[in-house]
Amino acid sequence: MEYVWLKDKIVPRQEAFIHFDDRGYYFGDGIYEVIQVYNGQPFLFHEHFERFLRSAQELDMSLPFSINEIKENTRLLLQKNEINNGYAYIQMTRGEQVRDHLYSRDICPVITAFTKEAEVPADKQKSGISLWAAEDIRWLRCDIKTINLLGNVLAKRKAEDNHCEEALQHRGHTVTEGSSTNIFMVKKGVIYTHPANHLILNGITRQNVVNLAKNERFPVYEEAFSLEEIMDADEIFVTSTTLEIVPVVNIKGSIEISLQPGTVTRKLQQAFKEQTSA
Ligand code: PDD
Repeated sequence: MEYVWLKDKIVPRQEAFIHFDDRGYYFGDGIYEVIQVYNGQPFLFHEHFERFLRSAQELDMSLPFSINEIKENTRLLLQKNEINNGYAYIQMTRGEQVRDHLYSRDICPVITAFTKEAEVPADKQKSGISLWAAEDIRWLRCDIKTINLLGNVLAKRKAEDNHCEEALQHRGHTVTEGSSTNIFMVKKGVIYTHPANHLILNGITRQNVVNLAKNERFPVYEEAFSLEEIMDADEIFVTSTTLEIVPVVNIKGSIEISLQPGTVTRKLQQAFKEQTSA
């Protein structure tokens, strides 16, 4: 039987129902995290919950339980569902309230979570993916991990419609990030990725990969780069919790280029694998 977490209980999935007036449903008024699990162990667990807490604070949301209770319940759900390799999805909406733009501070946030057994995509990690480059139309607080993901889902659909697996979003000429990934460029042995500001989500994998790259003595610049600069990149790769590190072999749309997975990408993939199989 599959269990999910709803409010203050872990219940069988078929018994979990969401209230009609949940603000997540009306306004996309909520936050979330996705945490990968390797050999039964959640990876970068505390880092994900630090970001969860930050997202809540930025949106003036309080937690219905302590962060330690939320972590414990997530572990419990993973155990109950016997997840070995896969992920946990945890979401918190502001709560239930008759539709009103003005949110009340007296409602209780609603936490829901599910888990999934899933392998990381070894084929994509090996062969690479294509990106569809298009204007980033999202709001200006992309640093908050909100469930309000309309710009992201439209970018993903557009990518798929153009036979690409992921989007490359850009604001004017500046490359920001994917629809659900961060983007890295390698040029002459130097690694570049957009700085962690309000224009991107500061990926937990992004932060981990920056640290791995520094350990491998690669110079890393958290600096914005342009579409023109990415045109003559030596390597490009994307990162996320569920993809880890995936090379990019084509970009289409606003720009058109083809590349091969390179040695820096392979080195970082290897370092990442060592870390998660330890
Ligand atoms: N997406 N940028 C965006 C817009 C994202 O949605 C994500 C993650 C990332 C990478 O963040 P992290 O390394 O913390 O996973 C960057 C998750 C996986 C999702 O929405 O399913």
